Amino acid sequence: MLSMPNPLLLGVNIDHVATLRQARYRAMPDAHNAEPSLLRAALDAEVAGAHSITVHLRADRRHIQDADVFLLRREIRTKMNLEMGNTPEILAIALQVRPDFVCMVPENREEVTTEGGLDVAGQRDSLADTIRQLQANGTRVSMFIDPDAEQVKASAEIGADMIELHTGTFANHQGQERAFEAARLKAAAELGHCLGLQINAGHGLTTENLPDLFCVPHLTELNIGHHLVSRAITVGLAAAIKEMLAAMGTYHAW
Ligand code: PXP
Repeated sequence: MLSMPNPLLLGVNIDHVATLRQARYRAMPDAHNAEPSLLRAALDAEVAGAHSITVHLRADRRHIQDADVFLLRREIRTKMNLEMGNTPEILAIALQVRPDFVCMVPENREEVTTEGGLDVAGQRDSLADTIRQLQANGTRVSMFIDPDAEQVKASAEIGADMIELHTGTFANHQGQERAFEAARLKAAAELGHCLGLQINAGHGLTTENLPDLFCVPHLTELNIGHHLVSRAITVGLAAAIKEMLAAMGTYHAW
């Protein structure tokens, strides 16, 4: 009997909608005329088929603001995935907001976007403590890591529920180099699955590079932002999401 492919879930990262709003309304993001509306984008994304809405509350608040996180938590109908650095300030907010998922990410002030994976192996104790607090509060926790066996094992050992494999290097290369990185992602996904972790992936994913990712088994959710918001400029957000969901439809998770 043929097995049915597992549907690959899409988390839509809407940070860049807030980036555009902040470019004009940094001093008054709650003004009646502040646009684009983050909530409208989230609700449109859900209607178009997004399975979750992802936002990154950065320490420097360069795009998403605290009020955005609380508003989205109240209004969205799917799941909320909060990306955060491991700091007491952002943890306190996450414990108040109670997102469905938290993805722990590294954060450097000067970076344009999240650049590398989190060094889980190097900060086991503080991450384990954060994971325990979030899980006790009803949130499932993911570690955003490079496809590296040491980081996968450390994520499982400290009690994470999921890992999100960093696909930035994969996306930024082509040909043999991309195939090499895809093989690393495959090995990390296999190891993580054996260790009982849910496997997600994200960063730099597009409808163009997605087929090359499909050699990676056990993927449950992809988190995608930049490409969707960029495509939205020409085709609209709903159409961009539908294109992506169609591209994801051929994935077979094993
Ligand atoms: N996953 C994580 C942990 C991220 O930090 C980001 C970027 O904010 C993404 C996924 C989405 O990456 P992109 O915007 O390149 O699709």
